[in-house]
Amino acid sequence: MMFTTATFRLLIASTVALLVVGCGERPPIAVSQTGFRGTAMEQVYNPRILATQAALNKAPDVAPAIVEVPGTPRAGAIYQNVQVLGDLSVGEFARTMAAITEWVAPQQGCNYCHIAGNFADDSVYTKVVARKMLQMTHKINAGWKTHVAETGVTCYTCHRGNNIPKEVWFKPEQQKSAGGALGNDFGQNRAAASVGLSSLPYDPFTPYFLDSKPIRVNGKEAMAMTGTAANRSSTKQAESTYATMMHWSTSLGVNCTYCHNTQAFAEWGANATPQRATAWYGIRMARELNNEYMVPITNVFPANRLGPTGDVAKANCATCHQGAYKPLYGAAMAKHYPAMYPSVKAAEPAVAPAAPGLPQADAPAAVPAKPEVKAEGKPGANPESKAVALVSASKAEVLVK
Ligand code: HEC
Ligand code: HEC
Ligand code: HEC
Ligand code: HEC
Repeated sequence: MMFTTATFRLLIASTVALLVVGCGERPPIAVSQTGFRGTAMEQVYNPRILATQAALNKAPDVAPAIVEVPGTPRAGAIYQNVQVLGDLSVGEFARTMAAITEWVAPQQGCNYCHIAGNFADDSVYTKVVARKMLQMTHKINAGWKTHVAETGVTCYTCHRGNNIPKEVWFKPEQQKSAGGALGNDFGQNRAAASVGLSSLPYDPFTPYFLDSKPIRVNGKEAMAMTGTAANRSSTKQAESTYATMMHWSTSLGVNCTYCHNTQAFAEWGANATPQRATAWYGIRMARELNNEYMVPITNVFPANRLGPTGDVAKANCATCHQGAYKPLYGAAMAKHYPAMYPSVKAAEPAVAPAAPGLPQADAPAAVPAKPEVKAEGKPGANPESKAVALVSASKAEVLVK
């Protein structure tokens, strides 16, 4: 065949067309760097998807503040059955009730949680759940500043005007198996939405958001199969790690490189971003919310609210984030609602001292006791070395800016 200019042009044109079709998203695409030059640590954004996302993650207006008159009675002194919000003034208490109605039950109103005419009554299950939710929100905002910082959360962060948050998870039913030679496929090859339609195990939640199975699978040394440094993690475990990482990425609407340098997934320090450390606290927070606040109220819910195996709906990264790198793109709603924080009288969580030699600002503000840190026993696992990681990683950020 003669290789004419025309065929050459055709070839180029069809290649370009193929490339565009292959990408699935038409240009322009925005790229922003998250790490050192040459490490491919960058985020690829489609501005059109971002625009839709931004509209979905807009925080509602803050209700006008109450003008507090000194000496107004506290809710605990006026009402009969106030167990959590007793220290609020009566005005702030009413403002809170109006706000949580807007955030959780805008259609149903007060009676979603109350029997008309008897607000003190606890017989509607949603009221009992809501009280536990208040305590859970307090724990998040006061005990997990390592993750939620001063931004904090309100009921709206998860509920967004819905009775049930849009993103919750249940344990999947035991898979049906033909038995015999087929064996157990470990939930793979189902192209599940929970793992970004990949063929990875479709339950990326139970092992990490309820159980504390190790996420780390990398060996500490090359080819260390024996001795004290032996790496006993299996390929199967690694697949589970990748599955949960797919969930983290899709929940935040980011690539793996938002947290990792992909040539060294296990590394912290300069080969990771400060966001990776935030995420390290995030998984531990989510696990605690499920085990200490959701699971204990399983029996409060009616059967139609429970999952196929009878478990309660639980939180994961998407419950708060819903596709944004920070829920509601970092809108700080909580500080406008004192009811979202434990009362000043309640015991404040212990604040850990700054790690030696580190400026206060770089040290994790409050490090909750985490016994599993020791068990993992790997470099970078303890909060102190995390603080070091934070310092060098934020330096990296400064360098690339
Ligand atoms: C999502 C559930 C929920 C909704 C909706 C709700 N409340 Fe409440 N309400 C509660 C909870 C939980 C308590 C108890 C708080 C505590 O124990 O500190 C409470 C307590 C009260 C009390 C105190 C009753 C007493 O004597 O102990 C009043 C009054 C009240 N709510 C009024 C309202 C009003 C008015 C509305 C509608 C604007 C409303 N609530 C909407 C959950 C709700
Ligand atoms: C971290 C996310 C999160 C936050 C924050 C949160 N919730 Fe929830 N909430 C959940 C989950 C998960 C469920 C379980 C869903 C279900 O009912 O099946 C739930 C359920 C509920 C229910 C029961 C709804 C029903 O119809 O069964 C009520 C009421 C409720 N929350 C009120 C609140 C209130 C009030 C606040 C703020 C003080 C709040 N929630 C904050 C995650 C959250
Ligand atoms: C939001 C931050 C974040 C994103 C995005 C993220 N990761 Fe991770 N990744 C982490 C954290 C934190 C850990 C360690 C978790 C722990 O120790 O509990 C981790 C651990 C890992 C590990 C195990 C490393 C080891 O020590 O063995 C691998 C592999 C991994 N991630 C791959 C990925 C892949 C692939 C993606 C993209 C699909 C991804 N990660 C996206 C934060 C992130
Ligand atoms: C209870 C709600 C909640 C849950 C659950 C949650 N987050 Fe967050 N996350 C937040 C809030 C609020 C912020 C904003 C903190 C701030 O302003 O610095 C945040 C911030 C982050 C950031 C920092 C983003 C940045 O650019 O600085 C990362 C990374 C992150 N979350 C990852 C995760 C991962 C991964 C999970 C699941 C393992 C998770 N989060 C679960 C509420 C949540």
